[in-house]
Parts: sequence; structure tokens; C-alpha cells
Amino acid sequence: MFFIGSAFLLSALTPALAWGNLGHETVGYVAQEFLSTNALSFVQSSLGSTYNKSLGPAAPWADSVKYESAYRWSAPYHFVDAMDSPLQGSCSVEESRDCGDDDCILTAIANYTTRVAKTSLSAAQRQEALKFLDHFLGDIGQPLHVENYEVGGNDIDAVCGGESTNLHAAWDTGILTTSLDASYSSSVPTYVAALVARIKSGAYKSLTSDWLSCTSTTEPVSKRGLVREASIARDIARLLSETSVKRAAITPLECPLVWAREANAYDCSTVFNYTSNTDLCTGSYYKSAVPVIDLQLAKQGYRLAAWLNVIFDGETGLP
Ligand SMILES: *[C@@H]1O[C@H](CO)[C@@H](O)[C@H](O)[C@H]1NC(C)=O
Ligand SMILES: *[C@@H]1O[C@H](CO)[C@@H](O)[C@H](O)[C@H]1NC(C)=O
Ligand SMILES: *[C@@H]1O[C@H](CO)[C@@H](O)[C@H](O)[C@H]1NC(C)=O
Ligand SMILES: [Zn+2]
Repeated sequence: MFFIGSAFLLSALTPALAWGNLGHETVGYVAQEFLSTNALSFVQSSLGSTYNKSLGPAAPWADSVKYESAYRWSAPYHFVDAMDSPLQGSCSVEESRDCGDDDCILTAIANYTTRVAKTSLSAAQRQEALKFLDHFLGDIGQPLHVENYEVGGNDIDAVCGGESTNLHAAWDTGILTTSLDASYSSSVPTYVAALVARIKSGAYKSLTSDWLSCTSTTEPVSKRGLVREASIARDIARLLSETSVKRAAITPLECPLVWAREANAYDCSTVFNYTSNTDLCTGSYYKSAVPVIDLQLAKQGYRLAAWLNVIFDGETGLP
């Protein structure tokens, strides 16, 4: 009883360090819509009835265990501390500078990609790997998970809908909750259906091939192209062909770094673009943040499906 009580207290007092459950579930449910045959079959049998056979309910798991002593080691895997200067307009993520000799979300994605594919591991170990991927492909799209400044915004006081919070928590939960209440009947399924419709036939349809190309949208067009085409498949082929996964296992992976840089760029354009006392969940700041959050959640869900499809079906199978 004491243990349960203190664990609860700890998680209630510890600053939020991830998209809240709503954001993570959204990423998982979006991904679930785009899985191909073998990926879907693995997801369903691995997650089973505990998670209603779906990446949606399984996505928040990694946050629910990270303050437990058995999983405390996984806490640093939820982010990468980019040592850039967003307030000076300089945003960047560098693997050696920011992940360095420690582990971070980039190495964790490499690790759990290898582990989910490894048939010599137990069903429980592969389920754990799947749940971590489900979660980390969401976190890497949250701009403040790829930012070191003020502990990813956790140490910056903020206001959301008149309530005191911090900048990180506003991006994890406050703005999204406000948006779900205002536009989606406070319902994750309604929100997911809207994002999936944008991907299949709406505003995002023309963007999806770019989402999977792993070319940085900040790179000049002349530098993109053939060399970097089909990078998800290339990333995974290289990773799975390694006989032993070393600490530097991220090195063959290009896509997660591109995704991290893309999310981090929003720290320069949008996340820190407010004056003190701005209420982040109303007015112009809120209006510019919501489209970013919608896009990042939809995109990371689609990328999660593509990633699993390549692992289990050999190709993304997605436009
Ligand atoms: C479980 O999944 C089924 C099939 O996808 C769905 O119809 C049902 O609503 C889900 N149940 C819950 C509790 O989410
Ligand atoms: C890789 O996964 C195993 C099993 O969860 C874990 O013990 C190890 O710390 C992980 N390493 C990294 C870098 O993610
Ligand atoms: C930054 O804030 C200004 C003033 O509210 C706004 O006009 C502009 O659109 C914002 N820029 C971004 C990228 O959100
Ligand atoms: Zn997280």
C-alpha cells in the first residue's frame, strides 16, 4: 500500500516528459490503420487482448513504467537533449553531440527495432520492444523531446486555459486536450478518424511520400533525391544485417535523426514564439501550435506503420 501510494505520488509530482496518453494513443491508432499483412498480424498476436490487439492502447505503456524501479533505466530513452539555441533561432540535432556516449531516443529506436525483429527473443521481450517503438516514434515527433533548453521546457512556467503549467506539459497535453475538447468531442477515436481522413484523401495526402522519404525538409531540394530514396527500407536492412548491436547502433539509421531534426525545427519557429504571460491554449499561439501537433501526430503514426511494415513485410506498402 505504501509502495503504491508513493509511486503514485512520485508520478503525480514528476514533470511530464512525453506526449500525454492522448497524443501517444493517437499515434498508435493512426499507425494501426496503415499496417500491412504481416505487421498487422504480429501486432495483433503480440499485443493480444491486454491491448485490444492495437497500437493505440499500447502506446502509453512506456510512460506508465518509466518511474518504476524496474524500468527506471528507460527514462532517458524518451528524448534527446539537443544542445542548440532555439531562442537565438538556431535549431539542430547532432547524434554525437546530443546522444554522445549515453543512450537516447535514437539509440533506443535502433535497439528496439532490432529486438522486435529478433525471433530468438521471447514473446514478452518482443512485445516490450514493440511497445517501446510504438511510444518512441511518437515522442521523437514532439519538439520538446528533442530539445535540451530548460529541460525540454519543463522548467519554463506557462499558462494553459488559465491554469499554471509548464511549456513541456502544454505541448504534451494542454494544447492537445484543449483542441480535442473544442473540435473533436473530447474523443480520441473522432480525432484519429479526422487525421486518417486527411492522410487518405485530405490535406496530408500529398505529403505522405515526403514523410517516408527521410529527407530533411530543411535540406535544399538539389541535395535530396535518388541517393536517399527508400531510406526506411535501407535503414532497417542495414540495422538488421548487423550481427551485434553496438552502442553506436544508431549510426546506420538515418530516418530517426531526420525525424528528430524536423520536430526540433519547430522549437525555432513555433514552440518558443510567445511573450511571457501569453496563455498558450488560447489566441494566436494556440492557433499556430494546433496544426503543428496535428501534423506531427499524424506523421509519426504513419511513419510507425511504415517502419513496422518494412520490418515484417519488407516494404512500406504505403503511398
Ligand atoms: C477493440 O478493437 C475493436 C476492433 O478494432 C473495436 O471495434 C473496439 O471498439 C475496441 N475496443 C475498445 C475498448 O477500444
Ligand atoms: C535495449 O533493450 C534492452 C531490453 O529492454 C535494454 O535492457 C537495454 O537497456 C536497451 N538499450 C538501449 C540502448 O535502448
Ligand atoms: C509567431 O508569433 C507571431 C505573433 O503572434 C505570429 O504572427 C507568427 O505567425 C508566429 N509564427 C509561427 C511560426 O508560429
Ligand atoms: Zn515518452
